[in-house]
Amino acid sequence: MRKILITGACGQIGSELVPYLAKKYGKSNVISSDVSAGCENGSDFEFLDLDVTDFEAIENAIDEHDVDTVYHLAAILSATGEKKPFKAFDVNLVGTNNILRAGIEKGLSRVVIPSTIGVFGPETPRENVPVVTVTRPRTMYGITKVTTEMLGEYYFEKFDLDVRGLRFPGIMSYVREPTAGTTDYSVQMFYHAVRGEPYKCFLRADAYLPMMYMPDAVSSLVKLAEADLKNLTRHTDYNVASYSFSPEELYNEIRKEVPGLEVSYEPDYRQEIAETWPASLDTTLAERDWGFRPEYDLERTVKDMIQNLKVKLA
Ligand code: SER
Repeated sequence: MRKILITGACGQIGSELVPYLAKKYGKSNVISSDVSAGCENGSDFEFLDLDVTDFEAIENAIDEHDVDTVYHLAAILSATGEKKPFKAFDVNLVGTNNILRAGIEKGLSRVVIPSTIGVFGPETPRENVPVVTVTRPRTMYGITKVTTEMLGEYYFEKFDLDVRGLRFPGIMSYVREPTAGTTDYSVQMFYHAVRGEPYKCFLRADAYLPMMYMPDAVSSLVKLAEADLKNLTRHTDYNVASYSFSPEELYNEIRKEVPGLEVSYEPDYRQEIAETWPASLDTTLAERDWGFRPEYDLERTVKDMIQNLKVKLA
């Protein structure tokens, strides 16, 4: 079997996708890469120091490791993207174009790229948003990601490169704490609950957003990657989400497990980002075309997060 390369492997999703792929395809077939000199995965898996803005380095990595498939996760998310817009442009757009171009030149069989609810904007409808709708984002993250969706589609049509992607909502997880997004509040609230600390939320109590739990996010990405191409009516922009909630609703759910949790609200610039995103997504195309079916509802997510964080933070 030829190898799978994961970019951005040290991030929130990469930290769980890498072991998932290793379990499925064998450890020796999975290569993690990131810009840091190494990450938690690095000790367990073959690790490359790879900057996706360096086209030649990508080509060399593909050649040297006989790479066949790339899961391209390297990205600067919405909150950091507003602090460092030029870096977000370079990593998200130049970096992704490098991966796609290398995909053609090296004859990769597949490139998988997560997209995001960040592609939507204030003119997008709020509820049950379909895949094809108004996508006029206001953040650098959203602008680069919606362009990435279109680039992937272009490379598919023009060069026959099998590019696949889905739009993730906010993702909750306990392995690697997210630090760069607008939906990170959800994970922070769990950490504070388990540590017995009060939490100051940077979104408003009623900021309603689509969300999901990491096990469903990882299995969905791999399910899409493995789907029969002839069943796919879209390529780079499937909507996925498990549920929607507001910070207040999450607080109420966590309090069933940790009754003493205290949350106050002090919205910052991330509230402005959240206000441009929809409250809920229509996921029927993902369900129909490749069997998207999340296993965790909110109650099960909360119980599992707390159970695992209690072990992690003990
Ligand atoms: N979790 C991401 C963010 O908040 C959304 O894709 O930026």
